[in-house]
Amino acid sequence: MNRTAPALTTDDRPVLDPFVVPDVAGHDGLRLAEVPFVPEVRLHLAEDAIVLRARLEAQVGAALPPPFWADAWAGGQAVARYVLDHRDVVAGLRVLDVASGSGLVAIAAAVAGAAAVTANDIDPYALAAIALNAHANDVAVEVSRGDLLGGDGDDAQVVLAGDVFYSRSMAERMLPFLHRAAARGARVLVGDPGRAYLPHDSLEVVASYQVSMIGAPEDAQIRQVYVLELRR
Ligand SMILES: C[S@@+](CC[C@H](N)C(=O)[O-])C[C@H]1O[C@@H](n2cnc3c(N)ncnc32)[C@H](O)[C@@H]1O
Repeated sequence: MNRTAPALTTDDRPVLDPFVVPDVAGHDGLRLAEVPFVPEVRLHLAEDAIVLRARLEAQVGAALPPPFWADAWAGGQAVARYVLDHRDVVAGLRVLDVASGSGLVAIAAAVAGAAAVTANDIDPYALAAIALNAHANDVAVEVSRGDLLGGDGDDAQVVLAGDVFYSRSMAERMLPFLHRAAARGARVLVGDPGRAYLPHDSLEVVASYQVSMIGAPEDAQIRQVYVLELRR
C-alpha cells in the first residue's frame, strides 16, 4: 500500500456511510452509540478499530493513520462532561475544539449552548466523522481542516483540547499553541487521563472524575480523568 490516501473534504461525510452498521451484534464497523461518560452525546464508534482501519485501507488502497476519530478518548470525555455540567464555560461563546477526532468535545460544546463551534483535525477521516456525528446529534459544528498548531486559535474565546498529550511530538506543538491562545485571552481547557506528556506545571486541575471502562480498549485501566485549565 503505497498510494497516498485521498484528501477528503467536509462534504465527504458519506465516505463513512458504508462502514456504519445497524444496531445488532456481529457487525464490524461504526456503530452509533451513547458515549459512556457523556450519554448526552451519541457517536459513531468503532466496534474494532483495527478491523475498521484495515477495511478503510482496503477501500482506499493506501496506508492510513489509526482511526482515532472512531473512539471517544478518555480525555475528551472528561472535558465534554465538564462543559455539559458547567455550561457557562461555553454558553454564548466561540469555541474551538482542537484535535477533535470524533467531534465529541465540539458536539458537547454545541449542546451546552456555545454560540459557534469549530472542530479541527488533521485527519481527513476525522473531518468526515465530525460531520457525521454532528448531524447525528443535530448540532451545528464547523469543520476546520489543516494544522492550526502554528497559530493562536484565531478568534476562539474558549479552546478545548481532549486527550492531546499522548505523544512527545504532539505535546511539543500543542502546548505552545495553547499558550498563544491563552496569551491573547482565550480560556483553555484540557481533558486528560494523566498521559505521559501532560505538562502538569502549565496546568491547574479544575475537575477530577472517577471512571471505569471508558474510552478506547487500550485505556481500560484508566480510573481517573481530569479537566485542567492552562495557567495564564
Ligand atoms: C487521541 S485523539 C483525541 C480525539 C478527541 N479529542 C477525543 O478526545 O476523543 C487525538 C487526535 O489528534 C489529532 N491530531 C494529531 N495531530 C494534530 C494536529 N497537528 N492538529 C489537529 N489535530 C491533530 C488526531 O488526528 C486525533 O484525531
